[in-house]
Amino acid sequence: MKNNVALTGFMGVGKTSVGKLLAERLGKKYVEADSLIVEKAGKAIPRIFQEDGEIAFRQLEIEIIKKLASQENLVIDCGGGVVLNKINIDRLRQNAIVVSLTASPETILKRTSSNGDGRPVLKQNNGIGGIISLLRLRKPYYEQAAEIKIDTSKLSIESAVAKIIEQLKENEDFH
Ligand code: S3P
Repeated sequence: MKNNVALTGFMGVGKTSVGKLLAERLGKKYVEADSLIVEKAGKAIPRIFQEDGEIAFRQLEIEIIKKLASQENLVIDCGGGVVLNKINIDRLRQNAIVVSLTASPETILKRTSSNGDGRPVLKQNNGIGGIISLLRLRKPYYEQAAEIKIDTSKLSIESAVAKIIEQLKENEDFH
């Protein structure tokens, strides 16, 4: 039986807001992989990208996901790029149901435009065009990782959480 939920999906699909409420509803602990990466590196994500490069960031991400994957009763808010390294998904799947949240490029643009500076990947792929091409590139990774898929574009946080819980209940591997 699995007792973690791993939330994946592109930046701005609602992993954080959905994750916090989902954890509350399931009586599990919400953890954000990015925060643990920042703690471990001792600097913010844009600085890790700038000073050490994306590969160093992904390495830290792999270490943090490995640690979280071995813990119990968590709702894990995975950064948008966690799916890019298969090892992360393999490890998470040992004790987690993987949920992929999706949203339209327009919704993503709207939701991420207030925090552009905190997301170096969106600085390199900016505007609606950047989001569309990066989404196209990453879509197969999110699809492959997902056991549950929810489009949050037109959903409130409440309804997205309700939909996830409904599907988790149907999953015999989860408690
Ligand atoms: C990234 C997403 C970010 C963060 C980093 C890289 C990505 O997390 O991990 O900036 O490559 O998609 P959020 O999806 O929580 O914004």
